[in-house]
Amino acid sequence: MIDENKRESFGSRVGFVLAAAGSAVGLGNLWKFPYIAGKNGGAAFLFIYIVIIVCIGVTAMTAEVLIGRMGRLNAADGFEKLGGKRWKPVGLAGILCTFIILSYYSVIGGWIVKYFFMSFTDLLEYAGAGKTGEIFGAFVSNPTEVIFYQGIFMLVTAIVVLFGIKGGIERSCKIMMPMLFVAMLILILRAVTLPGAMAGIEFYLKPDFSKVTSETWLAALGQGFFSLSLGAGAIMIYGSYLPRTENIISSVKQICFIDTAVAFLAGLMIFPAVFAFGAEPAAGPGLTFITVPTLFAKMSGGVVFAVIFFLLFFVAALTSSISLLECSTGYFVDHGMDRKMATLITAVLIFITGIPSACSLSGGLKIGSRDFIDAAGYLTDSIMMPLCSMFCCLFVGWALNRELVKREATNDGKISFGLFDIWMIMVKVIAPAAILVIFFTGLKW
Ligand code: TRP
Repeated sequence: MIDENKRESFGSRVGFVLAAAGSAVGLGNLWKFPYIAGKNGGAAFLFIYIVIIVCIGVTAMTAEVLIGRMGRLNAADGFEKLGGKRWKPVGLAGILCTFIILSYYSVIGGWIVKYFFMSFTDLLEYAGAGKTGEIFGAFVSNPTEVIFYQGIFMLVTAIVVLFGIKGGIERSCKIMMPMLFVAMLILILRAVTLPGAMAGIEFYLKPDFSKVTSETWLAALGQGFFSLSLGAGAIMIYGSYLPRTENIISSVKQICFIDTAVAFLAGLMIFPAVFAFGAEPAAGPGLTFITVPTLFAKMSGGVVFAVIFFLLFFVAALTSSISLLECSTGYFVDHGMDRKMATLITAVLIFITGIPSACSLSGGLKIGSRDFIDAAGYLTDSIMMPLCSMFCCLFVGWALNRELVKREATNDGKISFGLFDIWMIMVKVIAPAAILVIFFTGLKW
């Protein structure tokens, strides 16, 4: 195992916060959150979501960063070092989870790359002719092309990870995260100044407490966990590169704030435009690749906005994918492998694992009634992530020494953590119970 003093680290707290926020901010924020909010009571949902992020999201993320920094190793070896052999499977499951997530995330990343290039050329012509559905259908059912773009996306991800924590991940996130904000602001300004934009804002934010049921709370919990990248070891490995002098609690608060702010803003970017042009609100690939291009085709200067839009999606996906790749790469680096070699091996393995997902949309490759890519998503989002996150909380709450945990969280008493006792109750009981509920209700094949 590598000597702790020789291990890489983030150069600054800002670098860590932006990298972890980059991991959290992804397609979940951009294409899932707005739709869930719009459908589940608008501002009423937003309120519930914020309560959940503040109470449970911050709690669970603090637990993950803390385990990472205490162990100063990848998830698997970190768990083993702190809790003995029987905890190692939790960390291994986390690494496996990121491996699987990246295998299909890179497929979708590839679609974004393809659309980014296409927005410079003929995307809006097709959109103007009402052909976005056909074009998208033809593209995803052509495995060669999908795999080609998946490969490009993996290559870019690998190049960033190859340069290491400070020189690759931190440096790129310090550029890409501000870019993401600027791109979003431009698109929001465009959307809200379109005639008829108000109807979209109303759909998105009009508080409707009659829509709030127990299902709403569950939707908020599930979305919150996915959006914060919890339970996959990604936040943990970033935590393991955080210097001992930095403040974990305030970093976690900032990461959660950025993630929630981007999710909220995504709705202000999408719905005003969707409603201004009389399109149907939707989520996921249909929204991004089919509906949105038609909106740009109807806008003056649409090409510019289309390019910015796909660039925004690309940056959001890339800052998540580098954290996913680092989980497996970091494992080999901790075992003494050269970083370049480790990156190459893990990236190629993940790329190959993603090929069935890439092919599954041309039909055929199914597991039960689901496309392969859906099945992989189900396994990670509904099973592996909630369970791993629950074990992280239980580990901090019950298996680790309370005094050591307090010393780690407060940097040996140098910073205050007034809510420590309450946080302890949250990690011991409340967060694991909440996660278990998401887990059981999410188990629908
Ligand atoms: N949070 C990411 C998003 O909103 C997706 C995600 C889930 C993720 N788990 C992760 C990203 C683990 C990186 C690591 O799209």
